[in-house]
Amino acid sequence: MKLADNKATLSFSNGKPSIELPVYSGNIGPDVIDIRKLYSQTGMFTYDPGFLSTAATQSAITYIDGDQGELLYRGYPIEQLAVNCDFLETCYLLLKGDLPNATEKKDFTELVTRHTMVNEQMQFFMRGFRRDAHPMAILTGLVGGMSAFYHDSTDINNPEHREISAIRLIAKLPTLVAMAYKYGIGQPYMYPQNDLSYAGNFLRMMFATPCEEYKVNPVIEKALDRIFILHADHEQNASTSTVRLCGSSGTNPFAAIAAGVACLWGPAHGGANEAALNMLYDIQKQGGVAKIGEFIKQVKDKNSNVKLMGFGHRVYKNYDPRAKLMQQTCNEVLTELGLEKDPLFALAKELEKIALEDEYFVSRKLYPNVDFYSGIVQRAIGIPVNLFTGIFALARTVGWIAQLNEMIGDPEYKIGRPRQLFTGAPRRDVPHISKR
Ligand code: SDX
Repeated sequence: MKLADNKATLSFSNGKPSIELPVYSGNIGPDVIDIRKLYSQTGMFTYDPGFLSTAATQSAITYIDGDQGELLYRGYPIEQLAVNCDFLETCYLLLKGDLPNATEKKDFTELVTRHTMVNEQMQFFMRGFRRDAHPMAILTGLVGGMSAFYHDSTDINNPEHREISAIRLIAKLPTLVAMAYKYGIGQPYMYPQNDLSYAGNFLRMMFATPCEEYKVNPVIEKALDRIFILHADHEQNASTSTVRLCGSSGTNPFAAIAAGVACLWGPAHGGANEAALNMLYDIQKQGGVAKIGEFIKQVKDKNSNVKLMGFGHRVYKNYDPRAKLMQQTCNEVLTELGLEKDPLFALAKELEKIALEDEYFVSRKLYPNVDFYSGIVQRAIGIPVNLFTGIFALARTVGWIAQLNEMIGDPEYKIGRPRQLFTGAPRRDVPHISKR
């Protein structure tokens, strides 16, 4: 970051001396006012719950232009990456800062492929869960549990440990997600198969059984690979900020990523794809397209607490570019599977059309986000609704790791420790119980 030819002056109406604060510029996007010395100079904190106007870090990984609806991974537009690259190339890009050449791509793919198996003991770890446990509960446990298996890569300050734990996490998440699914349906686990692509291997671990050969459908394989690309990283979202804050204590990479899995589970965040599909199911059950008007009315009624899941975004005040690509992917998959007439897809498109013409949504700049269509395409592929966020976590793991590594690699980083505006009881003495 570079000092801008601009300064911020903070003055106070109560006569406290004003102070000057430096302004820094990045390469693109808003400048920042550096308030690191604010408390020492004024004895005051800033106040920004939800971090609506706060840059918690500088980063060179992902940039979102919310007004333009633009998403760049290391400068490359998501629309180009989704068409010209595969997920492992995107992983390489996010981790190392540039796209791999043919040799680098081959070596990286081989490295990941060689780490897709998990320790056999993990199967016994799984047995502690109920068969009907939510896969995200299982994944939070399994990912955190990885730190109990890979002691040789838990020192977050050791670059070699960061490198191998990154490969292990990227390689093993598909295996763990597929194991969580198989455990829930009582089928045997399928071991990874090294001659398959990253997405193809995941499809086989999910849907193959030991009883017969499994043939990967190339259209579904490509669609799933693209879904992984679309979910790979997204600036300082809630789960990424969780990973950074957790990692800033020096804990091991597996524990920090497990914290990200736990945060992503929430319906306001990564859990929205599961919530969006359940919302479409509910509207379908109540009468489908004919009931959209009634549902929209509920959404607009503040007392209903009903939100249009898969719509709205803290940063995008325009169409989420990932939602457009997800809708295209949806079309491809449904056509491939002969499901073009899928009633839920038709319902989602009609719901989007009506919402985008409604003043409530237009005035609040609420557009479909990545989660609006992702559930429909995952359901068509055969992925159960309660596993959608697990797929999101699988794909976002590389982004979490890249952001964590960037933080640890920043000589300026400190343990994250926000302050507060205290509104509780001032000091008082404990009364005897007879007087309470
Ligand atoms: C992800 O941060 C990221 O980058 C996340 C993510 C990533 O890749 O990591 O993009 C992934 O989490 C996508 C978002 C998935 N969540 C959902 O689809 C859940 C539904 N969306 C909302 O909960 C909401 O839009 C948020 C949480 C996504 C964003 O909320 P904000 O920025 O805090 O905005 P807000 O809640 O203050 O909303 C502003 C107004 C409010 O109305 P008013 O108080 O002004 O009258 O818009 C309304 C909100 O009530 N609003 C919605 C709405 N989203 C916002 N009203 C109905 N339906 C919605 N979906």
